[in-house]
Parts: sequence; C-alpha cells; structure tokens
Amino acid sequence: MQVIKYAFQQHGDERGMLVALEEYKDIPFEVKRVYYMYDTKTDVHRGFHAHKCLEQILVCICGSCKVLLDNGEEKKVISLEKPYEGLYIANDMWREMYDFSPDAVLLVLASDYYNEQDYIRDYDEFKRIAAQKRG
Ligand code: TYD
Repeated sequence: MQVIKYAFQQHGDERGMLVALEEYKDIPFEVKRVYYMYDTKTDVHRGFHAHKCLEQILVCICGSCKVLLDNGEEKKVISLEKPYEGLYIANDMWREMYDFSPDAVLLVLASDYYNEQDYIRDYDEFKRIAAQKRG
C-alpha cells in the first residue's frame, strides 16, 4: 500500500516559519472545503469511514496525531507531527485518527463539499466495495 506524504516548502526567516498551499501546485486538486479538528479529547478515535469520491490532504498544523489507513487489504499507521507535512488520502480508503496531543489541530483540505452520501461508514460495506474494486 502506497502512502503519499508531502513535505511542503517551508518559508522561514528570523521571524519564524510559513507554509503556503496553492491548489494544483502544492495540492493536487481543487480545494473546495477546509475543516479542522481541535480540542480532541485524549483517547478519542475519529473518522471510521471511507469516501466514494473525495481527495483529501491532512496536515497536523499544531501538535501531533496518528492516522490509520486501511485499503481493505492492508493497514498502515502514519504519524503526523510536523506542520509542513501533508498526508494525501484518496477514495476508498478507510481512515481512523487517534492519539491526538492536547494541542493538536488537524487541518483537512478536501476536493469537494461536505456530502453525507459520499461516506461509507460501515466497515463491512467498505470491505465489500474494496474487494469488488480489486476484482
Ligand atoms: P464527523 O463526520 O463525525 O467527523 P469525523 O469523521 O472526523 O469523526 O463530523 C462531525 C460533525 O461535523 C457532523 O455533525 C458533520 C459535521 N461536518 C460538517 O458539517 N462538515 C464537514 O465538512 C465535516 C467533515 C463534518
């Protein structure tokens, strides 16, 4: 299973650091939605879904968290702990986010608007769809 993690260009000087993200340059899709999670309680796991047609990039812009990715066949855990790292997640990938540090802010750039119809929230259904697509 291929994990795509971007290291965004950092612009730094004596004042501090800055990262700029532009669609189709740093982000490989049109960004239609941005959301972020913060104040996530210790021991909370979030996510537990896949998307039928959505691309996302996750950036832990403050603190750290872990993301479990599952393509139906294989699982990988990715740590996000740098504000210049972006984890790309495409369609048909089950994800769970956990181990949030108390100061964690997890920013998500998404290729489409929020649409509940695009979610696969049932793990068995996800496994069935993933197996069908593998053929
Ligand atoms: P939820 O899907 O439970 O988040 P997660 O998958 O990370 O556990 O979303 C929490 C609430 O926020 C839910 O009521 C739906 C709402 N929401 C939006 O209104 N827009 C969005 O873009 C997202 C991601 C969630």
